[in-house]
Amino acid sequence: MVSRFRVFWRLRPNFIDFLNLGKLKARGIFKSLNGIIVIGSLLFFIAALSSGYFFMFPTFQPVISSHENSTLTDLDIDMNSTSPERDVHISSTLPDLDSECNVFDGKWVADESYPLYNAAQCPFLERGFNCLANGRRDNGYLKWRWQPKDCDIPRFDVEMVLEFLRGKRVVFVGDSLSRTQWESMVCMLMNGIKDKRSVYEINGSNITKQIRHLGIRFSSFNFTVEFYRSIFLVQPRQVPKRAPKRVKVALQLDRLDDISKEWIDCDILIFNTGHWWTPTKLFDMGWYFQVGGRMKLGMSITGGFKTALRTWKSWVESKINPSRTRVFFRTFESTHWSSGSKQNCKVTQQPISKVNGNDRHPYSDVIIDVVKNVSIPVTVLHVTPMGAFRSDGHVGTWSDNPSVPDCSHWCLPGVPDVWNELLFSLLLSDQNP
Ligand SMILES: *[C@@H]1O[C@H](CO)[C@@H](O)[C@H](O)[C@H]1NC(C)=O
Ligand SMILES: *[C@@H]1O[C@H](CO)[C@@H](O)[C@H](O)[C@H]1NC(C)=O
Ligand SMILES: *[C@@H]1O[C@H](CO)[C@@H](O)[C@H](O)[C@H]1NC(C)=O
Ligand SMILES: *[C@@H]1O[C@H](CO)[C@@H](O)[C@H](O)[C@H]1NC(C)=O
Ligand SMILES: *[C@@H]1O[C@H](CO)[C@@H](O)[C@H](O)[C@H]1NC(C)=O
Ligand SMILES: *[C@@H]1O[C@H](CO)[C@@H](O)[C@H](O)[C@H]1NC(C)=O
Repeated sequence: MVSRFRVFWRLRPNFIDFLNLGKLKARGIFKSLNGIIVIGSLLFFIAALSSGYFFMFPTFQPVISSHENSTLTDLDIDMNSTSPERDVHISSTLPDLDSECNVFDGKWVADESYPLYNAAQCPFLERGFNCLANGRRDNGYLKWRWQPKDCDIPRFDVEMVLEFLRGKRVVFVGDSLSRTQWESMVCMLMNGIKDKRSVYEINGSNITKQIRHLGIRFSSFNFTVEFYRSIFLVQPRQVPKRAPKRVKVALQLDRLDDISKEWIDCDILIFNTGHWWTPTKLFDMGWYFQVGGRMKLGMSITGGFKTALRTWKSWVESKINPSRTRVFFRTFESTHWSSGSKQNCKVTQQPISKVNGNDRHPYSDVIIDVVKNVSIPVTVLHVTPMGAFRSDGHVGTWSDNPSVPDCSHWCLPGVPDVWNELLFSLLLSDQNP
């Protein structure tokens, strides 16, 4: 099955290929931890208990359907894609992750201490996301920090995080937006490594858009940060006999990806999926759903998405040991295509103040709903609202293929760095009871 599918996959490079990514800014230093741990340990313990549940159930409103249209079609564009020094100042505020604080509810604040790393010093940042290297002239988009409404997050402290990750295995699973977060994390962490040669891809592989597995080893800290490309999370197979002619691939919604067994044995596991669940990337390409060995030609894409997520839920519940592995699921990453045109991507110089419903997405809703029901702890990284403001953060035409504008992926440094800051703040806060 595996090898058959690989062969098949090679024959169809066009639709394997595609998401790129973007940029974002970040910063922050998890501040000097000792103080936090000592003074805040009781607080953290209480917070971990209650906020864990809170993060799993962020408030979420019904989706606005008019928005669904533009976001569900706008990634078509990707079908054509081919392939400073660390801030030293220390925050004076204690992290205040009390149970009332939803760190995903907040605003962007201008902050000159960002970005968190210099792209030129990170060999694992792919060209397509390095907007400055690709000719972007304005750099205000690099200088924003995320400020939660009801609490502060600790600044990113690379030394503390490197130490925290010692001996661990971090695994990202998903589409190119997961690859972006993976690259962002690697670059944020590399900033704290003096001997850059001690950080390497395990098999010496270069980063490409279709590669299924990449692993960066931080040898001096004995940990790896890996990325598995699994755009739907569930397993495609060749078209069954006697299927209608338009069917080219059956996406088996009831079977998790065949590489999923490689995700199990890790310490931190971060999922995403969403950007490929569109009519143009599925039905128009001859990809249809299958459940229980039967084609479900009439099933809607949203229905397929929900079914796949339930398969993911059963997999997590049966395979993941919650005392070993901390699981996260990132919600839909906001896009900024102007309505009506897939080609219409205007990257602004400043974040926008009105998100016009873009802070919600139907897939984020589904993810939040399904995660709620998982019997082991899973934390939603609800990045949809914060991304909605950042129309300034996309790759636009500053990618490796300037002829195809991109309002889906983010420049790096940029917005995905903040996803990692929040991820680390959650990990470190539940580590310190
Ligand atoms: C979505 O787009 C299609 C075609 O582009 C259009 O016919 C339909 O009315 C749109 N739906 C909404 C809810 O805007
Ligand atoms: C991809 O590019 C081809 C030619 O370069 C064009 O005909 C096609 O419409 C493009 N597809 C999308 C989805 O933009
Ligand atoms: C590296 O980490 C692994 C756990 O991932 C551990 O078993 C091993 O002993 C560590 N090696 C060293 C040299 O610390
Ligand atoms: C990676 O890219 C470099 C430069 O393009 C090339 O020299 C090298 O052979 C590539 N490595 C692999 C494993 O493909
Ligand atoms: C390295 O290569 C081995 C053998 O081909 C493969 O199983 C493994 O997944 C690769 N690891 C990474 C991180 O690329
Ligand atoms: C969650 O579980 C409840 C109760 O078992 C069920 O009614 C609901 O449909 C489930 N939601 C999802 C998204 O699976």
